Amino acid sequence: MEQYAIKGGNALVGEVEIGGAKNAALGILAASLMTDETVLIDNLPDVRDINVMIQAMESIGVVVERIDRHTVKVNGGSTHSTVVDGDYIKKIRASYYLVGALLGKYSSAEVKLPGGCNIGTRAIDQHLKGFRALGARDAGVSGGMIVAHADHLKGAHIYLDMVTVGATINLMLAAVMAEGQTTIENAAKEPHVVDVANFLNCMGASIKGAGTDVIRIRGVAGLHGTEYTIIPDQIEAGTFMFAAAVTKGDVTVKNVIPKHLESITSKLVEIGCEVEESDDAVRVVASKPLLHTHVKTLPYPGFPTDMQPQITVALGLAEGTSIVTESIFENRFKYVEELVRMGAGIKVEGNTAIIEGVKGYTGAGITAPDLRAGAALVLAALAADGVSSVDDIKYIERGYEDFHLKLQSLGAEIEKVESERELQKFRLRVG
Ligand code: EPZ
Repeated sequence: MEQYAIKGGNALVGEVEIGGAKNAALGILAASLMTDETVLIDNLPDVRDINVMIQAMESIGVVVERIDRHTVKVNGGSTHSTVVDGDYIKKIRASYYLVGALLGKYSSAEVKLPGGCNIGTRAIDQHLKGFRALGARDAGVSGGMIVAHADHLKGAHIYLDMVTVGATINLMLAAVMAEGQTTIENAAKEPHVVDVANFLNCMGASIKGAGTDVIRIRGVAGLHGTEYTIIPDQIEAGTFMFAAAVTKGDVTVKNVIPKHLESITSKLVEIGCEVEESDDAVRVVASKPLLHTHVKTLPYPGFPTDMQPQITVALGLAEGTSIVTESIFENRFKYVEELVRMGAGIKVEGNTAIIEGVKGYTGAGITAPDLRAGAALVLAALAADGVSSVDDIKYIERGYEDFHLKLQSLGAEIEKVESERELQKFRLRVG
């Protein structure tokens, strides 16, 4: 089984290029099948979740041509089925965007229930409520599939009971070609919601208000081909920013939109890092001891839940007591057990982690429980004294392209190893 072998202690220094936003790309790929014309998508991250999504689209006849590692041409004109039932599709969460896209285009969709990271119950009731409001009266779960069929999709007024990224994107997809006007209230405002809306608008949709809590969609008769570049990944960028913080480094993350990183930047400043912003880059310098703070995850523009494990790893090294409250998912502290084995002083009570900062972590054999927690544990290992091995890196590879190579380029001693023997060799080499 593949693992990362890591020798901690090096300050990360240098520049790193951030790739396209995975969670925008997943919505955009689904949206791209909604026209029979060809769509060119650029800045697509080469990560596992994206490749599973492409495989699912190909399984129903969508033609996806790879132009290069980060560019694809998609043509949905030869879609021959609205049923996506391959077992592999369960591996990702965003498979549910195929329901919105297929329902929106063909008034019919059946897609295997999604999987994704085990970070909470992750209900889909708001998606289904919205589909039903748009005219898919039977929208529901049946035999392990999400099903939705409509005679005729009609615009509707939809109030979401909670802020949900997934339902906001899915309902935009389902509504773009519905007759008349759709309003989504209490919509998610994440940059990737805006990116999917911008992409759909480039295809001829009429979506207004994305990025605010009210999105208004005027149904159009059809969508057309376009060329589109996906925005940079806010969470990949944030992860490298925190990598600088925990290793007392000096890292410039390039190809980012600094505005999307504001909540992350402000927490880094609060805990004692210097952050310099330019047009499309952010430099983080961590030359002083880290300071404690309190943080609560919230929908955008609040502090992202996808950065919660990374900030917890940093606060574990800050003097004094910090408190991290997770308000989006109820099961997102599973990695804390692993961190405690590395010497962290953290207690979890319900949705709150109470952190007593320690002077340092020590290397250990640890396992990635999910994508972001896995990346955060890698950061802990980079900061730790001694050698660590991180298991189950398949989770990390769901959302980070060339993670270990990018870290290496910043001076980290990290390698991907495939056996116990290779791990031993690494240990011998790094002493
Ligand atoms: C998206 O998940 C992201 N995934 C997650 O990123 C991210 O953590 C999350 O948004 C929050 O930002 C993708 O974009 C593929 P939600 P999603 O719908 O859409 C509840 C990563 O690491 N809810 O915003 O599943 C839900 O249980 C991943 O890249 C309902 O109750 O999240 C949660 O508590 C992990 N009913 C809250 O809303 C619904 O119908 C927010 O969920 C929908 C959601």
